[in-house]
Amino acid sequence: MRLKVLQALRSENAQKDIVIKGWIRTRRDSKGFSFLEINDGSCLKNIQAILSWDVISKDSLSKFTTGAAVSVKGDLVESPGKGQKWEIQVNEIKLLGEAPADKYPLQKKRHSDEFLRTIAHLRPRTNKYGAINRVRSALAFGIHKFFNERGFFYVHSPILTGSDCEGAGEMFTVTALDLQKINKQIDFTQDFFGKKAHLTVSGQLEAEILACALGDVYTFGPTFRAENSNTPRHAAEFWMLEPEMAFADLEDDMDLAEDLVKWLVEYIMNSCEDDIGLFAKFLDKELKNRLDLVLNSSFERVSYGEAIHILQKSKRSFEFPVKYGLDLQTEHERYLTEDYFKKPVFVFDYPKEIKAFYMRLNEDQKTVAAMDLLVPKVGELVGGSQREERLDVLETRMDEVGLDKEEYWWYLDLRRFGSVPHAGFGLGFERLIMFVTGVSNIRDVIPFPRTPKSLEF
Ligand code: 4AD
Ligand code: MG
Repeated sequence: MRLKVLQALRSENAQKDIVIKGWIRTRRDSKGFSFLEINDGSCLKNIQAILSWDVISKDSLSKFTTGAAVSVKGDLVESPGKGQKWEIQVNEIKLLGEAPADKYPLQKKRHSDEFLRTIAHLRPRTNKYGAINRVRSALAFGIHKFFNERGFFYVHSPILTGSDCEGAGEMFTVTALDLQKINKQIDFTQDFFGKKAHLTVSGQLEAEILACALGDVYTFGPTFRAENSNTPRHAAEFWMLEPEMAFADLEDDMDLAEDLVKWLVEYIMNSCEDDIGLFAKFLDKELKNRLDLVLNSSFERVSYGEAIHILQKSKRSFEFPVKYGLDLQTEHERYLTEDYFKKPVFVFDYPKEIKAFYMRLNEDQKTVAAMDLLVPKVGELVGGSQREERLDVLETRMDEVGLDKEEYWWYLDLRRFGSVPHAGFGLGFERLIMFVTGVSNIRDVIPFPRTPKSLEF
């Protein structure tokens, strides 16, 4: 019977004739025996296989090196060694794929993140990147579980779109490339079969459509931003989770974001205990404290005006100016959450000039019902708002920012027919992974990062 390493290590009893398939992490030879540490990616831990030299000829042993793929058959027996309950006494071993030691780059030593980025096709086989990918998978599953339990519907927003949700003009254009036309002049800005098309920056507008029919929905998928910024927190392709709720206001929006983040932190600490333990031990000594704090505190809520005030009276000298009306930079966000409040912080009610057109105008006519959730280490994790549901106010705002109302006729229709207060937010999935693992560069939490200069794999 074939078992994954995870299943074998969790076995209740000794078992005869099991098969394990995986990759050798290390081999140690001693007095007629080889000790193989085998990992199959199912968990962080390896299983130890005891291979008697009676089972294998000494000559072929040299091919069982770090990185080689093997299939072993044998008995699962209690391990006399410390730390692990089970090991395998091997009766039969097959070499499935060799990994010559002089060529295989992942030998048993520490490799830098920079080096591992150059071998994105092999790095998932390391402990750290295996753990990151398992955490990524578990968080995605957790997101579905959380929303499913709360009666939200999972909806799919398109990747190819004609609208710019954020109005920031940071879009990648899509061209239907007709090889026949390639030698002729092509207008690359207008060529989705005669129309302008780009990769979506956010699924929000479509999520609003579905929320105004189904009530509570969420979309979760890849989004794209053509920002040429080389920061550890920005990627050109990243995954975004975007819940949208009908009959909800800004307060409901912040409550949902807080519940979600807390729920996911607890979920991942339970479901990926070993992997999170690895990060806490080797990567980020503060990780456990930070995650415990999330579970045991209520997130701070301050208005943008108060946040500016706090920053202005702080003794910290910031690189970027702090002034009412300017956007907060990462250094400001991190000061608020790491140094001042020392916990996650919602900043709400931003001046309308620095936020997107769809956010609901507050009574003061100057600020909008927006919120950003800032968390230690990462800065902005969530951005959201209550949406402008009043047709006349929305039209005025679109005129102010110079948006073509004809192009958004369908968005305006939502306000013409059965309009309701509604709210939602976007959570950057990679930033969430950075937050729960302590990994400090976005390039390391997505298997194939798309950043300026990185498109190889
Ligand atoms: O704040 P943003 O731009 O908000 C929106 O796009 C809204 N339409 C979302 C909504 O209300 N449905 O992006 C939301 C989040 C940010 O808080 C950040 O975590 C992440 O997406 N994000 C990025 N993550 C990685 N790389 C980038 N270039 C990102 N830009 C935004
Ligand atoms: Mg934002």
